[in-house]
Amino acid sequence: MSATGWLVVAAAVALAVSLPYWLPRTVVALRVRIFARVNGEEGIPAPGRDVPVEEFKQVYGHPAASGRSRGAALSDLFWYWLSPGPEVHQEHLEPGPRYDDVARTTRQILAGLSLAQWTELVGRCTRHVLDELDDSAGASPARAHRVRLRDLMMPVWAEVYYELVFRTPCPSTVRDLIVGNADDVVTALKCTGLRHMDRRARLTAHLRARLAHDPPPVPLPSLLSEEERAYYLQGTFFNTAVVQMSEAMAHLLLALATHRPVQDRLVGGDQDPDFLDRVINETLQHFPLFGVAHRVTTGEIPRAGGAPIPAGSVLLFNYPEYQRSGTTGAERFDPDRWLSQDTRPTAHIPFGVTANRPCPARGFAVLTMRVAAEEVLRRFRLDSSAEHTRSLPSRGPCLLLPRAGGRARRPRLRLAAMRLGDHWATVPRSLVQLVLGSYMVWDARRQGLCRNYFAPSSGGPAPSALGSR
Ligand code: HEM
Repeated sequence: MSATGWLVVAAAVALAVSLPYWLPRTVVALRVRIFARVNGEEGIPAPGRDVPVEEFKQVYGHPAASGRSRGAALSDLFWYWLSPGPEVHQEHLEPGPRYDDVARTTRQILAGLSLAQWTELVGRCTRHVLDELDDSAGASPARAHRVRLRDLMMPVWAEVYYELVFRTPCPSTVRDLIVGNADDVVTALKCTGLRHMDRRARLTAHLRARLAHDPPPVPLPSLLSEEERAYYLQGTFFNTAVVQMSEAMAHLLLALATHRPVQDRLVGGDQDPDFLDRVINETLQHFPLFGVAHRVTTGEIPRAGGAPIPAGSVLLFNYPEYQRSGTTGAERFDPDRWLSQDTRPTAHIPFGVTANRPCPARGFAVLTMRVAAEEVLRRFRLDSSAEHTRSLPSRGPCLLLPRAGGRARRPRLRLAAMRLGDHWATVPRSLVQLVLGSYMVWDARRQGLCRNYFAPSSGGPAPSALGSR
């Protein structure tokens, strides 16, 4: 081969080898531009020029920051992802009697268990799912399991939230329907797959049949139709609750798998009963589940240092950026920073802001994470070499090494293979995300679920049939 030929080959090899380092970032930037192009430039970023960090909470918590869906192009996209029934999803309901009815029902269902009952339920469901994993190992119980943490945790929360709502154990066929629904939603949200409305419809059909002959003990919102009640349960409990808890646990367990000293301290008889809570705080500080939450202003919001924010503005509250603003040494994973007022992060809103529709699960989500984590740690040592990012499109590759096996050495070869696989998987995945994400943004814009729902010509908000599109 000529010298030029060798040069071309060397350049091609260098380009190929460097792909994982620059392609995903370039694709993300391109995706953001395509999203903005299709969705239209809208919104006031907070924190940002018009809403500095110091005013973030005050603007978020202002009574006029109360519009949820109507009037924001972004809502079409969220409604698309959360279908069927996005118009009755608690997160996206406008303030008013229907919202109050739905929010009250959610509170009543969540308040149905004492802390002791939550602990028993979460512990039992986690053990059940881990037993199944052990059973799959058959005759070699000491074998390491290679899992994706989000997938591992989803059946746990499907069982927990089904039993919470219906007060009967979750049959395995229904668990599959719930996991199928929740996984489909979160996969589409992360643009790693398209929506499969047939999977979601199967759960709706099950819920409608169940509500008709054997409704849950807590009465469902009286202002909703029968179909909307099924959508309400599907959206709030069998999508949001299952997805958020599985994502939060994937982050927590991956943080433990990639910070061995923290994990060793937890299982090594550390007498500090609050250490795991600090680990959870630190996890949610580094990896807040929400990227951006939006609000549409229903009136003017005064600002201390400038012109008021006009009515009808779309405010984009950026969680990762806000949380990063209040931390020194933000890059380090250090649960003990929470011990002192001097080092504890000052901007920490993993469950939203109290004054503006915070998460109804904020009172016990951390407790239930702790119970599930303790069950996993009791049985397995966690190890991972995967990259840990906030959006975690990899679903958290991890090795679970049975403690009963007594294996002490790290499986270095398997970890090296995992690192390589995880690193290279970013290349095809980011291309898939670019293509599918652009398609879904375009399709959501075209369908205009939210826009059409509120359009004056549609005769007002009513068509629950839009959920099945
Ligand atoms: C660790 C787990 C969780 C985290 C970090 C989390 C985080 C959040 C955040 C930040 C918000 C506020 C978003 C905004 O301001 O628009 C929110 C709202 C919400 N969350 Fe959670 N969540 C978690 C678990 C759950 C669970 C288990 C449920 C079960 C029902 C749930 C149901 C909701 C609902 C219904 C809303 C909307 C509240 C409203 O608009 O009235 N979340 N969540």
